Amino acid sequence: MHLPKQVVLKEVGPRDGLQNEKATILTTDKVELINLLSMSGLSYIEVSSFVHPKWIPQLADAAEVLAQIKRQQDVTYAALIPNKRGLERALTVGIDEASVFMSASESHNKNNINKSIDETFPVLLEVVDEAKRNGLTVRGYISTVVGCPYEGYIAPEKVRHVADALFDMGVDEISLGDTIGVGVPTQIEALLTHLLPHYGPERLAMHFHDTRGIAIANVVKSMELGITKFDSALGGLGGCPYAKGASGNVATEDLLYLFDEMNIHTGVQMEKVLTAASFIEQKLGKPLASKQMEIQRHKEDET
Ligand code: HMG
Ligand code: MG
Repeated sequence: MHLPKQVVLKEVGPRDGLQNEKATILTTDKVELINLLSMSGLSYIEVSSFVHPKWIPQLADAAEVLAQIKRQQDVTYAALIPNKRGLERALTVGIDEASVFMSASESHNKNNINKSIDETFPVLLEVVDEAKRNGLTVRGYISTVVGCPYEGYIAPEKVRHVADALFDMGVDEISLGDTIGVGVPTQIEALLTHLLPHYGPERLAMHFHDTRGIAIANVVKSMELGITKFDSALGGLGGCPYAKGASGNVATEDLLYLFDEMNIHTGVQMEKVLTAASFIEQKLGKPLASKQMEIQRHKEDET
């Protein structure tokens, strides 16, 4: 197997992980969660989302969270930004990276952000320009890169169309999202072999939801093809409320087990991620779905 020596884990738990949770999490608890994650060796945390609070009520306190967290110098703090209004709100409290987002499928795009794909491009361009003027880096998410809850299979050409537009706007990196966790390694291979001749692997990250338990296999396939950046959420939390069938992200601690055992360096400490996961598990009042948390619960039962 041809595998990298080192990968970067991008923690999206405080945003993707919480956005679909019904229980209201207190702002102070979100702050504590992010502070715990900041101490785990992670170099990237997506803290919250400056979308319309009516669309994602759980993250309506994005500005308060960003104002209260204890920032570590070597951690990049990012937030999801849908439009100029969202960026204005984020700039008042300060973020390092703005994450714009759209979908490769027309109908998910419409359901998620209320615009067609073509109508979305100028909205995001405005965000990218303004973010760059303010010295931020910009990440571009493309959702439904393999399958869409409304349209079914999505061809790699559709992903390329959106990726070209985002890179032309000036985004620094694109995160490819299997939003509803339908992809399998052969499809990930087809997608990446279509994209990689045009953009280097260092410009791409993978964002796997684990609805069918295939995310880890897809991560391994992506690594074989040269990808070294992976999004994940502690505890396997996550899901997009505007994508029926979407469930949790691949769990940070399960990916970490994989990388640690394969001697692929991450700089992230398993124990500290598990501490953060236990903290949020308690606040959510339900067992988290990751394998590592399950193992931890078994160990606690035995003692
Ligand atoms: P819209 O209703 O079409 O917005 O929503 P609009 O531009 O027509 O504005 C309507 C009103 O909302 C205006 O107020 C705006 O000022 C206000 P009025 O003038 O009527 O008083 N408004 C805002 N207020 C606060 N913050 C803002 C904002 N924008 C407008 N940012 C919009 C369009 C994009 C805002 C809406 O559809 C939205 O917020 N959608 C977010 C959906 C979402 O967050 N989905 C989940 C995240 S994506 C995801 O999970 C996938 C990912 O993880 C990758 C993967 O898994 O594939 C990233
Ligand atoms: Mg997601």
